[in-house]
Amino acid sequence: MSELVQRYTASVFFDQRLWRADIQGSLAHAQMLCECGILSGDDFAAIKNGMQHITAEIESGAFEWKLALEDVHLNIEARLTQLIGDAGKRLHTARSRNDQVATDVRLWLSAEIELITQLLVELQRALLSLAEKNIDVILPGFTHLQVAQPVSFAHHLLAYIEMFSRDAARMQEIKARTNTLPLGAAALAGTSYPINRTRVAELLGMVNAMGEPQVCQNSLDAVSDRDFAIEFTSASSLLMVHISRMSEELILWMSQNFAFIQIADRFTTGSSIMPQKKNPDVPELARGKTGRVVGHLMGLLMLMKAQPLAYNKDNQEDKEPLFDTVDTVKDTLRIFAQMIAGEKDPSTGLFSGGLTIHKEAMQSAALKGYATATDLADYLVKKGLPFRDAHETVALAVKHSLREGLELSALTLEQLQSFHPSIQADVYDVLSLEGSLHSRTSLGGTAPAQIKAQIQRHTLRLQKE
Ligand code: ARG
Repeated sequence: MSELVQRYTASVFFDQRLWRADIQGSLAHAQMLCECGILSGDDFAAIKNGMQHITAEIESGAFEWKLALEDVHLNIEARLTQLIGDAGKRLHTARSRNDQVATDVRLWLSAEIELITQLLVELQRALLSLAEKNIDVILPGFTHLQVAQPVSFAHHLLAYIEMFSRDAARMQEIKARTNTLPLGAAALAGTSYPINRTRVAELLGMVNAMGEPQVCQNSLDAVSDRDFAIEFTSASSLLMVHISRMSEELILWMSQNFAFIQIADRFTTGSSIMPQKKNPDVPELARGKTGRVVGHLMGLLMLMKAQPLAYNKDNQEDKEPLFDTVDTVKDTLRIFAQMIAGEKDPSTGLFSGGLTIHKEAMQSAALKGYATATDLADYLVKKGLPFRDAHETVALAVKHSLREGLELSALTLEQLQSFHPSIQADVYDVLSLEGSLHSRTSLGGTAPAQIKAQIQRHTLRLQKE
């Protein structure tokens, strides 16, 4: 191999991060071989010692990774043999790098998915704590980015909690499938040694919710499919799309035209030439990084699409997109939880440095766009008008108000009655933001009573996480 080809085909400089899973997988394999009488007790003991030594070397940074040894698997195995001799060479009995690498990636990813689920829980808690403080804060709810109806800021935050709770559930479903054992499929066709694959799954904790070992049931499929990685990047893409939508809103809300919020200084930067600037870099980057994660999903799908069964070297290309997806998602979730709720002072237990909410700006924006027009229509329906007629009547009232430059609630009773005689003085209750908000009591609606019930539900749910 020329130096160029060696560099082209090697993966050790990125797949070395799988080293812990690789050693864990090897130890479970060796123990099973020993229990099945395929490997001697002495050899297994030597392998255990050798792996302990290698673990210490890698942890201390003393381990010498060699490009010539191609990947993490061959590097560790070569060092093992260097340390313990023939026993090291026996480790690879009844397996292949094909089932080994699939096992390593699944083990590693299962643990990462668990971490990501926990970070999703933390982010939901951060949103929930902000929601609890902002039940009575009213902002315009938009459709088409046009003022539509007043909603509570807490209600808006709760919408994201719903999205992130589904993301967490998706992650757990994917973990259940990822955590399944390929080892024992060997190169592609299985092995003639009397191995016990179920035992290896047990030793590696590759078990379902009932504690039953999960083993890939077809050797060709076991070594060749990376659908678990694709599912994971797909769920990650969706998660990032949720983050990106929230980012977009934070960016808009922080612009002077909205001025609804302020993001703490440590998540923003200034401009090198405009001294007054404070830019929402973190949400902007998160929005940008969403493209990167979605790109990884596309990359993995394309990687898989034309591969004949079974293993092909193409699959070595699954690692960098997968690793980068995990890193990006974890960092993004951590930083968002901090940006929203602030950071906890370990001595006082109090949070500080989260989002600052400008409730007056939110409130006056909600007053601007005839956000209670639907409430007036509903009021007329309650007085006996068919909804379509009520809609028409209110449209005329809004047109008139627009011409006069007035809010609906600023029209006199006589003016309002000129649109329909059934309008009475009690109309002003529904024309206020609070009146509108409190009236939306349907399940999942924005009335404070509904919001409190939702906060309660999420609090109980997140306590169990
Ligand atoms: N480095 C390889 C990968 O990541 C390991 C498996 C190689 N197997 C083989 N037969 N060359 O996929």
